[in-house]
Amino acid sequence: MRGDKTPVGILGATGVVGQRLLALLDRHPWFEPAWLAASDRSAGKAYGEAARWRLSTPLPERFARLPVSAAEPAGCPAKIVFAALDAALARELEPAFAAAGHAVISNSSALRMQADVPLVVPECNPDHLALLERQPSYARNGGFAVTNPNCSTVGLVMALAPLERAFGIESVFAVTLQAVSGAGYPGVASLDILGNAIPYIANEEEKMEVEAQKILGRLTAGGIEPADFRVSAHCNRVGVVDGHLESVSVKLKRRATQAEVAEALRGFRGRPQELELPSAPAAPVLVTEAADRPQPRLDSEAGGGMAAVVGRLRRCALLDYKFSVLSHNTLRGAAGAALLNAELLRAEGRI
Ligand SMILES: NC(=O)c1ccc[n+]([C@@H]2O[C@H](COP(=O)([O-])OP(=O)(O)OC[C@H]3O[C@@H](n4cnc5c(N)ncnc54)[C@H](OP(=O)(O)O)[C@@H]3O)[C@@H](O)[C@H]2O)c1
Repeated sequence: MRGDKTPVGILGATGVVGQRLLALLDRHPWFEPAWLAASDRSAGKAYGEAARWRLSTPLPERFARLPVSAAEPAGCPAKIVFAALDAALARELEPAFAAAGHAVISNSSALRMQADVPLVVPECNPDHLALLERQPSYARNGGFAVTNPNCSTVGLVMALAPLERAFGIESVFAVTLQAVSGAGYPGVASLDILGNAIPYIANEEEKMEVEAQKILGRLTAGGIEPADFRVSAHCNRVGVVDGHLESVSVKLKRRATQAEVAEALRGFRGRPQELELPSAPAAPVLVTEAADRPQPRLDSEAGGGMAAVVGRLRRCALLDYKFSVLSHNTLRGAAGAALLNAELLRAEGRI
């Protein structure tokens, strides 16, 4: 193990999100990948042989040499396990790892809406981590599961959180233009998406509508009381590689000027900024005045891929205000989100 870094494991290490996690962990000051797992197709091979590396930065040699293990808790030496598995598989494996005493930090939808599982965006609802104490394994062996939201929910929620805090939100209407990398690898067939847009992503609209309410909900003695605003989402897949762009209209509970809305977005900060967590962007929401931004190709990497970029803030003829928000789906929407959750858990002494 490198220096005194904490060893971590990755379930689904060969996939789109698993690769992003490895790339982020390459120079991470606290964590070092020690255990990588994937399907039976990959288990037993060296990572460099099992994974079809799709990132533009080279696969670090020390990761290429790591063996790929079977996705079972037995033999996993790491307390912290990042999970980047398909939901059906995660539903079975994530509770098994938590029961065996691992801190499971999940990217899948399997456990997100479970009452005792925190669904956390560290800038928005770090207090929801207290739900961990309701998980049976937490007191027994320190095992638990924490989740981060769907990649289309995260950008939306980062833009809504400061508005909910400052003015209250009554309703939200959102239309997404989602990148193909959001579908995993190989994802959508090239003949379906090149020169095309697909106005359907299975279960995505439902996820956006309920996850935003849970994240911006209130922690009470009885669990999370969902935020009382309504969300209507339309989800579209477009021929973009990385970065989900969303057109959002929002109705506020209290009157606010456009300058006040912009100021609330710009001034938004949370626990990761306060704690100066390694993966925290200096400002979680960046507001651009440019008439034609944010754009996925130009703005997805803002704040190291961890900031949500808001632009085109203006009056809405139906609700109060409308704007565009962009977030990097595999960084802020998955690998980076999971890493920030792990950093928060560690900084708050939960692992
Ligand atoms: N892509 C995104 O932008 C994004 C954003 C947010 C959340 N997510 C969520 O993150 C999760 C992973 O997504 P992804 O895009 O990384 O998917 P992916 O590219 O399809 O990768 C899936 C991973 O799961 C492994 N796997 C498949 N079958 C397995 C089995 N039976 N046992 C153990 N491992 C198995 C694969 O290993 P092999 O290589 O051996 O097949 C691979 O490592 C999903 O729940 C997805 O919804 C993705």
